[in-house]
Amino acid sequence: MPSLISKPSRALEGSCKIPGDKSISHRSLMLAALAVGESRISGLLEGEDVLATASAMRAMGATITRAENGEWHVHGVGVGGLMPPHDIIDMGNSGTSTRLLMGLIASHNIQAVMTGDASLRGRPMGRVTTPLTEVGAQFQARDDQFLPITITGANMPVPIDYTPPIASAQVKSAVLLAGLNTPGTTIVREKTPTRDHTERMLTAMGADITVTEEDSLRVVRLVGQPDLKPITLEVPGDISSSAFLLVAASIIPGSDITVENVGLNPLRTGIIGALQEMGANITVLNPRELGGEPVGDIRVKHAKLKGVTNLSVEPSTMIDEFPVLFCAAAVAEGPSRFTGLEELRVKESDRIAVMATGLKQNGVDLTEFDDGIEITGVAGKIPGGGTVATELDHRIAMSFAVLGQMAQKPITIDDAAPIQTSFPVFIDLMKTLGAGMET
Ligand code: S3P
Repeated sequence: MPSLISKPSRALEGSCKIPGDKSISHRSLMLAALAVGESRISGLLEGEDVLATASAMRAMGATITRAENGEWHVHGVGVGGLMPPHDIIDMGNSGTSTRLLMGLIASHNIQAVMTGDASLRGRPMGRVTTPLTEVGAQFQARDDQFLPITITGANMPVPIDYTPPIASAQVKSAVLLAGLNTPGTTIVREKTPTRDHTERMLTAMGADITVTEEDSLRVVRLVGQPDLKPITLEVPGDISSSAFLLVAASIIPGSDITVENVGLNPLRTGIIGALQEMGANITVLNPRELGGEPVGDIRVKHAKLKGVTNLSVEPSTMIDEFPVLFCAAAVAEGPSRFTGLEELRVKESDRIAVMATGLKQNGVDLTEFDDGIEITGVAGKIPGGGTVATELDHRIAMSFAVLGQMAQKPITIDDAAPIQTSFPVFIDLMKTLGAGMET
Protein backbone atom coordinates (compact mmCIF):
# COMPACT_ATOMS: atom_id res chain seq x y z
CA MET A 1 0.00 0.00 0.00
CA PRO A 2 2.07 3.01 -1.18
CA SER A 3 0.94 6.04 0.81
CA LEU A 4 0.94 9.59 -0.55
CA ILE A 5 1.68 12.80 1.33
CA SER A 6 0.21 15.99 -0.04
CA LYS A 7 1.29 19.44 1.15
CA PRO A 8 1.32 22.96 -0.25
CA SER A 9 4.16 23.80 -2.58
CA ARG A 10 3.54 26.68 -4.97
CA ALA A 11 0.95 27.99 -7.41
CA LEU A 12 0.09 25.59 -10.26
CA GLU A 13 1.26 26.82 -13.65
CA GLY A 14 1.54 25.52 -17.19
CA SER A 15 -0.35 23.53 -19.80
CA CYS A 16 -0.95 19.80 -19.80
CA LYS A 17 -2.76 17.02 -21.61
CA ILE A 18 -4.98 14.71 -19.68
CA PRO A 19 -5.24 10.92 -20.34
CA GLY A 20 -8.15 9.57 -22.36
CA ASP A 21 -11.71 9.48 -21.13
CA LYS A 22 -12.45 6.31 -19.16
CA SER A 23 -16.07 5.92 -20.25
CA ILE A 24 -15.22 6.39 -23.93
CA SER A 25 -12.17 4.11 -23.68
CA HIS A 26 -14.24 1.21 -22.26
CA ARG A 27 -16.91 1.62 -24.92
CA SER A 28 -14.40 1.88 -27.75
CA LEU A 29 -12.85 -1.50 -26.87
CA MET A 30 -16.20 -3.21 -26.34
CA LEU A 31 -17.83 -1.93 -29.51
CA ALA A 32 -14.71 -2.34 -31.67
CA ALA A 33 -14.61 -5.94 -30.44
CA LEU A 34 -18.09 -6.41 -31.96
CA ALA A 35 -17.27 -4.77 -35.30
CA VAL A 36 -16.08 -6.73 -38.31
CA GLY A 37 -12.61 -5.55 -39.35
CA GLU A 38 -9.88 -3.55 -37.65
CA SER A 39 -10.55 -0.52 -35.44
CA ARG A 40 -7.76 1.86 -34.48
CA ILE A 41 -7.95 3.77 -31.22
CA SER A 42 -5.50 6.43 -30.13
CA GLY A 43 -5.42 8.20 -26.79
CA LEU A 44 -6.97 5.19 -25.05
CA LEU A 45 -6.80 5.47 -21.27
CA GLU A 46 -4.22 2.89 -20.18
CA GLY A 47 -5.50 2.66 -16.61
CA GLU A 48 -6.26 -0.61 -14.83
CA ASP A 49 -10.03 -0.35 -15.37
CA VAL A 50 -9.74 -0.08 -19.15
CA LEU A 51 -7.07 -2.78 -19.27
CA ALA A 52 -9.57 -5.04 -17.44
CA THR A 53 -12.04 -4.41 -20.27
CA ALA A 54 -9.35 -5.22 -22.85
CA SER A 55 -8.52 -8.53 -21.12
CA ALA A 56 -12.19 -9.48 -20.90
CA MET A 57 -12.80 -8.77 -24.60
CA ARG A 58 -9.72 -10.81 -25.49
CA ALA A 59 -11.00 -13.65 -23.32
CA MET A 60 -14.21 -13.57 -25.40
CA GLY A 61 -12.45 -13.76 -28.75
CA ALA A 62 -11.40 -10.25 -29.84
CA THR A 63 -7.82 -9.59 -30.91
CA ILE A 64 -6.57 -6.46 -29.14
CA THR A 65 -2.99 -5.22 -29.46
CA ARG A 66 -1.08 -2.05 -28.64
CA ALA A 67 1.27 -0.73 -31.33
CA GLU A 68 4.59 0.86 -30.44
CA ASN A 69 3.22 4.33 -31.20
CA GLY A 70 0.58 3.81 -28.50
CA GLU A 71 -2.28 3.16 -30.90
CA TRP A 72 -4.59 0.25 -30.01
CA HIS A 73 -5.75 -2.13 -32.76
CA VAL A 74 -8.90 -4.19 -32.30
CA HIS A 75 -10.08 -6.99 -34.61
CA GLY A 76 -13.70 -7.61 -33.73
CA VAL A 77 -15.69 -10.83 -33.82
CA GLY A 78 -18.93 -9.27 -35.15
CA VAL A 79 -22.20 -8.81 -33.25
CA GLY A 80 -23.21 -12.27 -32.01
CA GLY A 81 -19.65 -13.60 -32.25
CA LEU A 82 -18.49 -13.48 -28.61
CA MET A 83 -16.98 -16.76 -27.37
CA PRO A 84 -17.30 -18.15 -23.84
CA PRO A 85 -14.23 -17.20 -21.77
CA HIS A 86 -12.16 -20.17 -20.59
CA ASP A 87 -11.64 -18.78 -17.12
CA ILE A 88 -13.23 -16.45 -14.57
CA ILE A 89 -12.97 -12.85 -15.76
CA ASP A 90 -11.51 -10.53 -13.14
CA MET A 91 -12.85 -7.00 -13.52
CA GLY A 92 -10.61 -5.58 -10.79
CA ASN A 93 -12.11 -2.31 -9.50
CA SER A 94 -14.17 -1.51 -12.59
CA GLY A 95 -17.93 -1.21 -12.25
CA THR A 96 -18.28 0.10 -15.80
CA SER A 97 -16.51 -2.94 -17.31
CA THR A 98 -18.63 -5.28 -15.21
CA ARG A 99 -22.04 -3.79 -15.87
CA LEU A 100 -21.55 -3.07 -19.57
CA LEU A 101 -20.09 -6.51 -20.22
CA MET A 102 -23.02 -8.12 -18.44
CA GLY A 103 -25.16 -6.40 -21.06
CA LEU A 104 -23.07 -7.71 -23.95
CA ILE A 105 -22.98 -11.26 -22.59
CA ALA A 106 -26.73 -11.24 -21.78
CA SER A 107 -27.71 -11.58 -25.43
CA HIS A 108 -24.94 -13.98 -26.48
CA ASN A 109 -25.53 -17.69 -26.00
CA ILE A 110 -22.46 -18.06 -23.76
CA GLN A 111 -21.70 -18.41 -20.09
CA ALA A 112 -19.18 -16.32 -18.13
CA VAL A 113 -18.15 -15.93 -14.50
CA MET A 114 -17.04 -12.53 -13.22
CA THR A 115 -15.37 -11.38 -10.06
CA GLY A 116 -13.51 -8.29 -8.90
CA ASP A 117 -11.68 -6.65 -6.00
CA ALA A 118 -13.21 -6.10 -2.54
CA SER A 119 -14.70 -2.75 -3.61
CA LEU A 120 -16.36 -4.15 -6.74
CA ARG A 121 -17.59 -7.23 -4.88
CA GLY A 122 -19.52 -4.86 -2.60
CA ARG A 123 -21.31 -2.99 -5.40
CA PRO A 124 -24.94 -3.70 -6.35
CA MET A 125 -25.51 -5.53 -9.64
CA GLY A 126 -29.30 -5.91 -9.32
CA ARG A 127 -29.71 -2.67 -11.26
CA VAL A 128 -28.43 -4.46 -14.38
CA THR A 129 -29.44 -8.06 -13.70
CA THR A 130 -33.11 -6.99 -13.35
CA PRO A 131 -33.52 -5.65 -16.91
CA LEU A 132 -31.11 -8.20 -18.39
CA THR A 133 -33.21 -11.03 -16.91
CA GLU A 134 -36.12 -9.64 -18.95
CA VAL A 135 -33.90 -9.95 -22.04
CA GLY A 136 -33.64 -13.66 -21.19
CA ALA A 137 -30.26 -13.92 -19.46
CA GLN A 138 -29.83 -15.81 -16.18
CA PHE A 139 -27.66 -14.77 -13.25
CA GLN A 140 -26.37 -16.56 -10.20
CA ALA A 141 -24.89 -13.96 -7.88
CA ARG A 142 -23.65 -13.98 -4.31
CA ASP A 143 -26.55 -12.88 -2.11
CA ASP A 144 -28.53 -12.38 -5.32
CA GLN A 145 -26.74 -9.30 -6.54
CA PHE A 146 -23.02 -9.22 -5.74
CA LEU A 147 -19.95 -10.57 -7.52
CA PRO A 148 -18.82 -13.27 -8.05
CA ILE A 149 -21.58 -13.79 -10.59
CA THR A 150 -22.30 -16.37 -13.27
CA ILE A 151 -24.04 -15.00 -16.35
CA THR A 152 -25.81 -17.31 -18.76
CA GLY A 153 -26.65 -15.38 -21.89
CA ALA A 154 -30.02 -15.84 -23.56
CA ASN A 155 -30.41 -18.38 -26.34
CA MET A 156 -33.26 -16.35 -27.86
CA PRO A 157 -32.91 -12.79 -26.47
CA VAL A 158 -35.98 -10.56 -26.53
CA PRO A 159 -35.93 -6.78 -26.99
CA ILE A 160 -37.11 -4.86 -23.93
CA ASP A 161 -38.60 -1.42 -23.31
CA TYR A 162 -37.00 -0.27 -20.07
CA THR A 163 -37.26 2.84 -17.90
CA PRO A 164 -34.37 2.71 -15.39
CA PRO A 165 -35.50 3.69 -11.87
CA ILE A 166 -32.18 5.50 -11.28
CA ALA A 167 -30.13 7.88 -13.42
CA SER A 168 -27.35 5.57 -14.59
CA ALA A 169 -25.39 5.51 -17.82
CA GLN A 170 -24.13 2.06 -16.88
CA VAL A 171 -27.66 0.66 -16.65
CA LYS A 172 -28.73 2.38 -19.88
CA SER A 173 -25.62 1.15 -21.69
CA ALA A 174 -25.95 -2.42 -20.37
CA VAL A 175 -29.50 -2.61 -21.79
CA LEU A 176 -28.46 -1.07 -25.12
CA LEU A 177 -25.45 -3.38 -25.45
CA ALA A 178 -27.75 -6.35 -24.79
CA GLY A 179 -29.94 -4.93 -27.56
CA LEU A 180 -27.08 -5.25 -30.05
CA ASN A 181 -27.42 -9.01 -30.46
CA THR A 182 -31.21 -9.04 -29.96
CA PRO A 183 -33.61 -9.06 -32.92
CA GLY A 184 -36.09 -6.16 -32.90
CA THR A 185 -35.92 -2.76 -31.22
CA THR A 186 -34.58 -2.29 -27.70
CA ILE A 187 -35.83 0.86 -25.98
CA VAL A 188 -34.46 2.75 -22.95
CA ARG A 189 -36.44 5.67 -21.52
CA GLU A 190 -34.40 7.93 -19.25
CA LYS A 191 -36.06 10.17 -16.68
CA THR A 192 -32.77 12.02 -16.29
CA PRO A 193 -30.39 12.07 -19.26
CA THR A 194 -27.01 10.48 -18.56
CA ARG A 195 -23.73 10.44 -20.51
CA ASP A 196 -24.48 9.39 -24.08
CA HIS A 197 -21.13 8.03 -25.26
CA THR A 198 -22.66 4.63 -26.11
CA GLU A 199 -25.30 6.25 -28.34
CA ARG A 200 -22.73 8.49 -30.07
CA MET A 201 -20.30 5.66 -30.76
CA LEU A 202 -22.99 3.29 -32.03
CA THR A 203 -24.16 6.03 -34.41
CA ALA A 204 -20.59 6.49 -35.67
CA MET A 205 -20.33 2.73 -36.24
CA GLY A 206 -23.46 2.66 -38.41
CA ALA A 207 -26.05 1.25 -35.98
CA ASP A 208 -29.70 2.26 -36.36
CA ILE A 209 -30.09 4.21 -33.12
CA THR A 210 -32.37 7.19 -32.50
CA VAL A 211 -32.90 9.54 -29.58
CA THR A 212 -36.15 11.44 -29.10
CA GLU A 213 -37.86 13.31 -26.30
CA GLU A 214 -41.27 11.88 -25.39
CA ASP A 215 -43.36 12.85 -22.34
CA SER A 216 -40.29 14.50 -20.74
CA LEU A 217 -38.29 11.29 -21.11
CA ARG A 218 -35.18 10.83 -23.24
CA VAL A 219 -36.01 7.79 -25.36
CA VAL A 220 -33.27 5.76 -27.05
CA ARG A 221 -34.26 3.14 -29.63
CA LEU A 222 -31.72 0.67 -31.00
CA VAL A 223 -32.48 -1.76 -33.81
CA GLY A 224 -30.70 -5.02 -33.03
CA GLN A 225 -28.22 -7.12 -35.00
CA PRO A 226 -26.46 -4.33 -36.92
CA ASP A 227 -23.23 -4.83 -38.84
CA LEU A 228 -20.98 -2.53 -36.87
CA LYS A 229 -18.33 -0.74 -38.93
CA PRO A 230 -14.85 -0.58 -37.41
CA ILE A 231 -13.86 2.83 -36.07
CA THR A 232 -10.82 5.05 -36.15
CA LEU A 233 -11.08 7.01 -32.94
CA GLU A 234 -9.07 9.54 -30.99
CA VAL A 235 -10.27 9.44 -27.39
CA PRO A 236 -10.66 12.91 -25.85
CA GLY A 237 -9.11 13.71 -22.45
CA ASP A 238 -11.17 12.76 -19.40
CA ILE A 239 -13.19 15.61 -17.85
CA SER A 240 -13.51 13.54 -14.65
CA SER A 241 -9.72 13.36 -14.31
CA SER A 242 -9.41 17.02 -15.33
CA ALA A 243 -11.73 17.91 -12.43
CA PHE A 244 -8.89 17.37 -9.94
CA LEU A 245 -6.79 19.93 -11.79
CA LEU A 246 -9.70 22.35 -12.19
CA VAL A 247 -10.33 22.33 -8.45
CA ALA A 248 -6.62 22.43 -7.55
CA ALA A 249 -5.94 25.46 -9.74
CA SER A 250 -9.11 27.17 -8.52
CA ILE A 251 -8.17 26.86 -4.84
CA ILE A 252 -4.36 27.35 -4.88
CA PRO A 253 -3.58 31.09 -4.88
CA GLY A 254 -1.71 32.37 -7.93
CA SER A 255 -2.49 29.33 -10.11
CA ASP A 256 -3.07 29.58 -13.86
CA ILE A 257 -3.20 26.34 -15.85
CA THR A 258 -4.60 25.10 -19.15
CA VAL A 259 -5.82 21.54 -19.52
CA GLU A 260 -5.80 20.64 -23.21
CA ASN A 261 -8.04 18.44 -25.31
CA VAL A 262 -10.69 17.68 -22.68
CA GLY A 263 -13.97 15.97 -23.59
CA LEU A 264 -16.81 18.46 -23.12
CA ASN A 265 -19.85 16.28 -23.69
CA PRO A 266 -22.68 18.41 -22.21
CA LEU A 267 -23.83 15.43 -20.13
CA ARG A 268 -20.40 15.41 -18.40
CA THR A 269 -19.52 19.07 -17.84
CA GLY A 270 -21.46 19.76 -14.64
CA ILE A 271 -18.22 20.28 -12.69
CA ILE A 272 -17.40 23.38 -14.75
CA GLY A 273 -20.83 24.88 -14.05
CA ALA A 274 -20.65 23.95 -10.36
CA LEU A 275 -17.24 25.56 -9.89
CA GLN A 276 -18.38 28.64 -11.81
CA GLU A 277 -21.40 28.88 -9.48
CA MET A 278 -18.87 29.00 -6.63
CA GLY A 279 -17.01 31.84 -8.34
CA ALA A 280 -14.29 29.94 -10.21
CA ASN A 281 -12.42 31.54 -13.09
CA ILE A 282 -12.74 28.93 -15.84
CA THR A 283 -12.72 29.55 -19.59
CA VAL A 284 -13.19 27.02 -22.37
CA LEU A 285 -10.89 27.70 -25.34
CA ASN A 286 -10.80 26.26 -28.88
CA PRO A 287 -14.09 24.32 -28.78
CA ARG A 288 -14.00 21.65 -31.49
CA GLU A 289 -15.12 18.09 -32.23
CA LEU A 290 -13.08 14.90 -31.82
CA GLY A 291 -14.34 11.39 -32.52
CA GLY A 292 -18.00 12.44 -32.41
CA GLU A 293 -17.57 14.23 -29.06
CA PRO A 294 -17.16 17.96 -28.27
CA VAL A 295 -13.73 18.84 -26.86
CA GLY A 296 -11.86 21.99 -25.87
CA ASP A 297 -9.01 23.35 -23.76
CA ILE A 298 -9.86 24.56 -20.27
CA ARG A 299 -8.04 27.49 -18.69
CA VAL A 300 -8.38 27.87 -14.92
CA LYS A 301 -7.07 30.68 -12.79
CA HIS A 302 -7.22 30.87 -9.02
CA ALA A 303 -10.32 32.57 -7.64
CA LYS A 304 -11.79 33.06 -4.20
CA LEU A 305 -14.56 30.46 -4.06
CA LYS A 306 -17.83 30.95 -2.22
CA GLY A 307 -19.93 28.14 -0.76
CA VAL A 308 -23.04 27.04 -2.64
CA THR A 309 -26.21 25.82 -0.92
CA ASN A 310 -28.49 25.44 -3.91
CA LEU A 311 -26.44 24.01 -6.74
CA SER A 312 -28.36 24.27 -10.01
CA VAL A 313 -26.30 21.64 -11.81
CA GLU A 314 -27.89 18.23 -12.52
CA PRO A 315 -25.94 15.69 -10.38
CA SER A 316 -25.77 13.09 -13.19
CA THR A 317 -23.62 15.49 -15.25
CA MET A 318 -20.86 15.42 -12.62
CA ILE A 319 -21.57 12.30 -10.57
CA ASP A 320 -17.89 11.31 -10.22
CA GLU A 321 -16.73 14.84 -9.45
CA PHE A 322 -18.55 15.40 -6.15
CA PRO A 323 -15.71 14.18 -3.90
CA VAL A 324 -13.34 16.82 -5.27
CA LEU A 325 -16.12 19.44 -5.26
CA PHE A 326 -16.52 18.73 -1.51
CA CYS A 327 -12.82 19.65 -1.17
CA ALA A 328 -13.45 22.92 -3.02
CA ALA A 329 -16.35 23.57 -0.61
CA ALA A 330 -14.06 22.98 2.40
CA VAL A 331 -11.73 25.85 1.39
CA ALA A 332 -14.50 28.13 0.05
CA GLU A 333 -16.03 30.92 2.08
CA GLY A 334 -19.21 29.93 3.91
CA PRO A 335 -21.40 26.83 3.94
CA SER A 336 -22.08 24.51 1.02
CA ARG A 337 -24.91 22.00 0.91
CA PHE A 338 -25.18 19.17 -1.61
CA THR A 339 -28.21 16.86 -1.72
CA GLY A 340 -29.80 14.29 -4.05
CA LEU A 341 -26.56 12.30 -4.07
CA GLU A 342 -27.67 8.88 -2.79
CA GLU A 343 -25.89 7.24 -5.77
CA LEU A 344 -22.56 8.34 -4.26
CA ARG A 345 -23.06 5.71 -1.56
CA VAL A 346 -22.68 2.86 -4.10
CA LYS A 347 -19.64 4.01 -6.05
CA GLU A 348 -16.14 2.49 -5.63
CA SER A 349 -16.68 3.40 -1.95
CA ASP A 350 -19.52 5.05 -0.02
CA ARG A 351 -18.28 8.45 -1.19
CA ILE A 352 -20.44 10.47 1.20
CA ALA A 353 -19.26 8.54 4.28
CA VAL A 354 -15.61 8.21 3.22
CA MET A 355 -15.34 11.90 2.27
CA ALA A 356 -17.07 12.95 5.51
CA THR A 357 -14.64 10.88 7.61
CA GLY A 358 -11.57 12.15 5.76
CA LEU A 359 -12.69 15.78 5.86
CA LYS A 360 -13.41 15.57 9.61
CA GLN A 361 -10.00 13.98 10.22
CA ASN A 362 -8.51 17.07 8.60
CA GLY A 363 -10.41 19.57 10.70
CA VAL A 364 -13.38 20.35 8.42
CA ASP A 365 -16.81 20.86 10.03
CA LEU A 366 -19.65 19.10 8.26
CA THR A 367 -22.97 17.34 8.61
CA GLU A 368 -23.65 14.14 6.71
CA PHE A 369 -27.14 13.30 5.36
CA ASP A 370 -28.46 10.12 3.79
CA ASP A 371 -28.29 11.78 0.37
CA GLY A 372 -25.63 14.43 0.78
CA ILE A 373 -23.49 16.64 2.96
CA GLU A 374 -23.23 20.16 4.35
CA ILE A 375 -19.70 21.50 4.62
CA THR A 376 -18.53 24.62 6.47
CA GLY A 377 -15.97 26.33 4.27
CA VAL A 378 -13.05 28.00 6.06
CA ALA A 379 -12.22 30.63 3.40
CA GLY A 380 -8.59 29.49 3.09
CA LYS A 381 -6.40 26.67 4.34
CA ILE A 382 -8.00 23.84 6.29
CA PRO A 383 -6.12 22.46 9.36
CA GLY A 384 -5.05 19.13 7.70
CA GLY A 385 -2.73 16.68 9.47
CA GLY A 386 -5.01 13.65 9.07
CA THR A 387 -4.45 10.26 7.43
CA VAL A 388 -7.24 9.40 5.05
CA ALA A 389 -8.44 5.87 4.28
CA THR A 390 -9.08 5.67 0.55
CA GLU A 391 -11.13 2.42 0.71
CA LEU A 392 -9.92 1.26 -2.76
CA ASP A 393 -11.41 4.41 -4.31
CA HIS A 394 -9.24 6.35 -6.79
CA ARG A 395 -11.34 9.50 -6.60
CA ILE A 396 -11.08 9.64 -2.79
CA ALA A 397 -7.28 9.37 -3.06
CA MET A 398 -7.01 12.14 -5.67
CA SER A 399 -9.53 14.42 -3.93
CA PHE A 400 -7.51 14.45 -0.70
CA ALA A 401 -4.28 14.83 -2.68
CA VAL A 402 -5.80 18.05 -4.06
CA LEU A 403 -7.04 19.21 -0.66
CA GLY A 404 -3.57 18.69 0.85
CA GLN A 405 -2.41 21.60 -1.31
CA MET A 406 -4.57 23.86 0.86
CA ALA A 407 -3.89 22.33 4.28
CA GLN A 408 -1.82 23.82 7.12
CA LYS A 409 -0.37 20.39 7.93
CA PRO A 410 0.23 17.71 5.24
CA ILE A 411 -2.54 15.26 4.45
CA THR A 412 -1.55 11.59 4.20
CA ILE A 413 -3.45 9.32 1.83
CA ASP A 414 -3.08 5.75 3.13
CA ASP A 415 -3.06 4.03 -0.27
CA ALA A 416 -2.25 5.72 -3.57
CA ALA A 417 -2.50 2.48 -5.60
CA PRO A 418 -6.18 2.96 -6.61
CA ILE A 419 -5.13 6.03 -8.64
CA GLN A 420 -3.80 3.54 -11.21
CA THR A 421 -7.36 2.56 -12.14
CA SER A 422 -8.21 5.84 -13.88
CA PHE A 423 -5.34 8.37 -13.85
CA PRO A 424 -1.94 6.62 -13.64
CA VAL A 425 0.04 9.83 -14.33
CA PHE A 426 -1.85 11.94 -11.76
CA ILE A 427 0.96 12.39 -9.22
CA ASP A 428 3.65 13.16 -11.83
CA LEU A 429 1.36 15.58 -13.64
CA MET A 430 0.42 17.41 -10.46
CA LYS A 431 4.10 17.69 -9.49
CA THR A 432 5.02 19.02 -12.94
CA LEU A 433 2.41 21.76 -12.52
CA GLY A 434 3.88 22.64 -9.11
CA ALA A 435 2.00 20.56 -6.52
CA GLY A 436 3.78 19.24 -3.43
CA MET A 437 3.38 15.45 -3.29
CA GLU A 438 5.56 12.63 -1.98
CA THR A 439 5.00 8.90 -2.24
C1 S3P B 1 -20.08 5.56 -16.04
C2 S3P B 1 -21.26 5.92 -15.45
C3 S3P B 1 -21.36 6.41 -14.06
C4 S3P B 1 -20.01 6.81 -13.50
C5 S3P B 1 -18.94 5.80 -13.83
C6 S3P B 1 -18.79 5.66 -15.33
C7 S3P B 1 -20.10 5.08 -17.43
O1 S3P B 1 -21.89 5.37 -13.26
O2 S3P B 1 -20.09 6.97 -12.11
O3 S3P B 1 -17.71 6.18 -13.28
O4 S3P B 1 -19.03 5.01 -18.07
O5 S3P B 1 -21.19 4.75 -17.93
P1 S3P B 1 -23.48 5.17 -13.04
O6 S3P B 1 -24.06 4.76 -14.31
O7 S3P B 1 -23.57 4.08 -12.01
O8 S3P B 1 -23.97 6.50 -12.55
